[in-house]
Amino acid sequence: MPTRIHHIGVAVADLDESIRLYQSGLGAQIVHRATNEKEGLEAAFLRVGDGEIELMSALRDDSPVGKFVGKRGPGLHHVAYAVTDLDQALADARDAGLELIDQEPRVGMHGTRIAFLHPKSVGGVLTELVET
Ligand code: CO
Repeated sequence: MPTRIHHIGVAVADLDESIRLYQSGLGAQIVHRATNEKEGLEAAFLRVGDGEIELMSALRDDSPVGKFVGKRGPGLHHVAYAVTDLDQALADARDAGLELIDQEPRVGMHGTRIAFLHPKSVGGVLTELVET
């Protein structure tokens, strides 16, 4: 079972502009910024109070985030939950009949193990599990 919401993922068109917006408008502070060439995205994690926001921009239009923004425009992308044992959490999700995008954990932008659950089995919400 998740222990808390780990972060909220937001797809943006312009990462630098969005970072400035979150800093000036919401007092957010950058925790980590990284590029993932394979996934075709650049992401910035920002701390806002007790919570974290992951701003993601596409490096290519045909990347997953590029397609998302092309189809729906910028906006809410995923909700991530912290779990202490990702292997167990994935087994539990599978037992509960949820569809997994990642059958096995992989390493996420933070260097921690993550896995995504398919939005169609979680009420339309792309859901990420993060091992902490
Ligand atoms: Co995320």
